[in-house]
Amino acid sequence: MNPKLKFKVRRAGLIALQFFKDSPDGNLFIAEARRHIPFAIKRVYFINNLANAKAVRGRHAHRRLEQVLIAVSGSFVLQLDDGHRTQRVLVNDASHGVYVGPLLWHTMTSFSYDCVILVLASEWFDERDYIREHDVFLQAVMTSRRQKPM
Ligand code: TYD
Repeated sequence: MNPKLKFKVRRAGLIALQFFKDSPDGNLFIAEARRHIPFAIKRVYFINNLANAKAVRGRHAHRRLEQVLIAVSGSFVLQLDDGHRTQRVLVNDASHGVYVGPLLWHTMTSFSYDCVILVLASEWFDERDYIREHDVFLQAVMTSRRQKPM
């Protein structure tokens, strides 16, 4: 990932972790809440066993949840859609995560065989926070823009 990557979709951003290259004794990556990560972390989960090249994950947005997605190993393609613009990002750098804010439709595909995705989340799991239908998502974006400029 280019550390200067610019996001044209709203409510997304690049997150630089603290990084020590302890070569030849490995690399050390650090993510501290409210320091490197722009929210207090309430939940951590990770996804592995992505050997199926046709796997598709995500395909939803959240109403309030904020997350940072990090490819701690390997790579995947993250497709983002803020309701107005779309952007495709190759996530392939353990020293940088992608901030995925509320009302951002996200889909993950093209996982490398060794891909492991670590996700830092601002809230405990709540299925009611999910928007799993794209037309409901577009409606939520429109309603939100009427209420406050984002
Ligand atoms: P989902 O968030 O849809 O996965 P992805 O975005 O990676 O495709 O979650 C898949 C299933 O796992 C869904 O039934 C909800 C459940 N789940 C939990 O119970 N707790 C969690 O913290 C997460 C992330 C998912």
